[in-house]
Amino acid sequence: MSSSPLAIVILAAGIGSRMKSTLHKVLHPVGGRPMIAHLRETVDELGPARVVVVTGPGADAVVAAAAPAEAAVQDPPLGTADAVAKAKAVLGDFDGDLIVLYGDAPLVEAETLKRLLAGLRGGAKLALLGFRPDDPAQYGRLVLDGAGGLERIVEFKDASAAERAIGLCNAGILAADARSLFALLPRIDNRNAKGEYYLTDAVALAREEGFGLALAEAAVHEVQGVNTRADLAAAEAAVQRLYRRRALDAGVTLIDPESVYFSFDTDLGPDVVVEPNVVFAPGVTVGPGARIRAFSHLEGARVAASAIIGPFARLRPGAAIAEKAHVGNFVEIKNAVIEAGAKVNHLTYIGDARVGAGANIGAGTITCNYDGFGKYHTEIGAGAFIGSNTALVAPVTVGAGAIVGAGSTIARDVAAGELAVTRAEQAAVAGGAERFRARARAKAATAKAARAKGVS
Ligand code: UD1
Ligand code: CA
Repeated sequence: MSSSPLAIVILAAGIGSRMKSTLHKVLHPVGGRPMIAHLRETVDELGPARVVVVTGPGADAVVAAAAPAEAAVQDPPLGTADAVAKAKAVLGDFDGDLIVLYGDAPLVEAETLKRLLAGLRGGAKLALLGFRPDDPAQYGRLVLDGAGGLERIVEFKDASAAERAIGLCNAGILAADARSLFALLPRIDNRNAKGEYYLTDAVALAREEGFGLALAEAAVHEVQGVNTRADLAAAEAAVQRLYRRRALDAGVTLIDPESVYFSFDTDLGPDVVVEPNVVFAPGVTVGPGARIRAFSHLEGARVAASAIIGPFARLRPGAAIAEKAHVGNFVEIKNAVIEAGAKVNHLTYIGDARVGAGANIGAGTITCNYDGFGKYHTEIGAGAFIGSNTALVAPVTVGAGAIVGAGSTIARDVAAGELAVTRAEQAAVAGGAERFRARARAKAATAKAARAKGVS
């Protein structure tokens, strides 16, 4: 697209104090992953030659979440222009286009960034991104000249009442010819309400220099900044709207879209049906025609075509449910393969296991996979039948076609085709029920008589 190389600078050295959090602001998840990871993936679509993340000291986790990226440290944070100066030191004599992104505005789309870059193709040295939020709140305002060209940016705290009435706001994202922008940085001062070096002052300086300026606009949901927990919730709502739309467009039925929550990487095949109140945590793939019934929670799980999950099922990481298998209500599956057509329908925990094709796992079956120290595997062969309320003490194997009687505790392997039952002998007492009732009635009558005496 562009002939000049591209560098991306992501600013994330701010303190984020309004989040009131011990977690770095840009590591707060949106759509199941850190904000900064969204940006990192988006910029990949532009094929950048360099990606630099500006953070405060000791923010290795932030750089890691943006990998692969180079780190620049800004300490103390003296403002966004100073932050870009720190990136400049890392970029050295980089010559090409530069895009500056704010780590706390994670939802900008690659297409928008491409439009911004296109502004530079027209000869401008600096291209700004504006947007028109319903409530312009604390955003910087884009001040236009009489001809509709960009004149300068005024930060909310420094703005007059007339300037605050401007609806066009600074998204905080800009593209520039790197060398031109770098040349302006030393001229930016901190004589303003916050005492910070504002990157936004580059606009007025660029105008003084006679640099061409370009302006692009973005949709509000793309550039809403996250400064508070309320903003974080709004960003989450925005990505969820996007993900629901994406699922519907991919041929998925969502009976009540608003009640279903997705992650950035949720992958649903055509003709999947998702009933209300389902949560897809990260790492879930669902094959064509599968049905995810109401109130299920899935994470790190693979569900194959035409399987049925739920209602009220929980699939944890490493769950792999094969074609036409059923996982029913109040069933938890962790790190286990449920092979084709197997049924695990009620009140069961299957962890660290393989359940063979067509096996039937009765209600209340538990794989006892953990002894407080290690985790152990349970192997259940194809076509096996596990009676209700069975405890399978791992490591243990139940062979193909075997039957385990209800209520058993299976601590030794069961061979293929065997019937195993560990139940205690059942005692039968002829006429015992009637004798029991007679005794019970007599006891109750005596107690009642005693009470009556007591009160009189
Ligand atoms: C900024 C813009 C404002 C815009 C708004 C959009 C400036 C001066 N203002 O305001 O015009 O409307 O974003 O969301 O740029 N950062 C550093 N080092 C610093 C200061 C900030 O890396 O010294 C980083 C922050 O971590 C954050 C980003 O820069 O990711 C923006 O900083 P923030 O303080 O949130 O700026 P706003 O007041 O939101
Ligand atoms: Ca901000």
